[in-house]
Amino acid sequence: MTVWPKWDAAVARDLVVPHSNIPGGLLPALHGMQEHFGCVAQGAIDLAADVFNLSRAEVYGVVNFYDDFRKTPPEMPVLKICMAEACQAVGAEGLKRHAVDLAGGRMEIEDVFCLGNCACGPSVMAGSSVYGRVSPERLDTLVGLLEGGGE
Ligand code: FES
Repeated sequence: MTVWPKWDAAVARDLVVPHSNIPGGLLPALHGMQEHFGCVAQGAIDLAADVFNLSRAEVYGVVNFYDDFRKTPPEMPVLKICMAEACQAVGAEGLKRHAVDLAGGRMEIEDVFCLGNCACGPSVMAGSSVYGRVSPERLDTLVGLLEGGGE
């Protein structure tokens, strides 16, 4: 089971404030909190609303709009496999079957639709890193890294 840090408003504020004067800074601020705490929970929404001078409803709307934001932290490491067209054309389906056979039950295998790495598919996201041209053998290595806490 993955252990995530407990909510800490001071740590979260340090993650959010650097984005506060940047146009479009809300998304990277929310992603930063999710990477650190595993999710964007109520405290994160309240803090983002305060720092960006938005209503809680506005921030909540953004968090709800993007499937990538979680309300609770994942219990297992997450492996995201791009199932959009360009990656499907170069074997994403087979890669996903391999991932489920290899690590299903020990890892969350999540479909995503485009990781912005279309020319180098099949693409996979492990931790905060995107990997391209992922063969089944490379996937085995990534799963090993995720399970070892290396990603
Ligand atoms: S289609 Fe897979 S990264 Fe864009």
